[in-house]
Amino acid sequence: MSRKLFIAGNWKMNSSAASSVEVAGGMAAQLGSVDAVDLAICPPFVYIPGVVEAFKGSNIGVGAQNMYFEDNGAFTGEISGQMLKDIGCRYVILGHSERRHVLGETDQLINTKIKKALSDGLEIMFCVGELLEERKADQTTAVVTRQVTEGLKDISRDAMSSITIAYEPVWAIGTGETATPEQAQEVHAMTRGLIGELYDSELAQAVRIQYGGSVKPGNAAELLGCPDVDGALVGGASLTVEDFAGIVNSVL
Ligand code: PGA
Repeated sequence: MSRKLFIAGNWKMNSSAASSVEVAGGMAAQLGSVDAVDLAICPPFVYIPGVVEAFKGSNIGVGAQNMYFEDNGAFTGEISGQMLKDIGCRYVILGHSERRHVLGETDQLINTKIKKALSDGLEIMFCVGELLEERKADQTTAVVTRQVTEGLKDISRDAMSSITIAYEPVWAIGTGETATPEQAQEVHAMTRGLIGELYDSELAQAVRIQYGGSVKPGNAAELLGCPDVDGALVGGASLTVEDFAGIVNSVL
């Protein structure tokens, strides 16, 4: 089965009111009519409305980088999935390694958030990936298996059509160090096999698995050419029109 590639940008805690609109405008002009590949950008919460406006009428979706699992109430500083829907988000990233390792999110919390995002009607980019010391200790398969299994606990087969898995080896994020295509393919194939065990082989063939970790215009084609790599979650190189368009154009 051939899966449509999905390339998403994660701006993390970067950009400004002016630059978010400028960059999104440039992306809309250069990539707005691309339909061979699904595209999305995930700005910081506060810049989402401007980016939604800039992408209006284009094929580029907008996502958030996180959300909370309640609708509203006394949760100072948090943002709900309903709020994200309200301002035009289609996607939310959950389980990003920086949420796990800097902000202390657990597999259980991520599972709770995924369930809530599904009930809010959001599509999810669900991130998993091992630390450098885990890879060195040959724990990659064990760690990714645990993250996927716990993160998808009690999530129905039907709901899986709203979930993209993003494999992001933590040692490759923002470091300039990229997994080799062989390393990426190996973990993606393992993850697809796991989805086959947790659900069934038809779903395993359909589920999209993005690679993330220092994806750039110069390495995207090779990584996305791997049979089980179905797109990319791009950090640093999604901050400029030139780099993001370079990545997208390299696979068109
Ligand atoms: P990077 O980030 O492309 O800057 O390595 C990827 C990510 O964290 O999603």
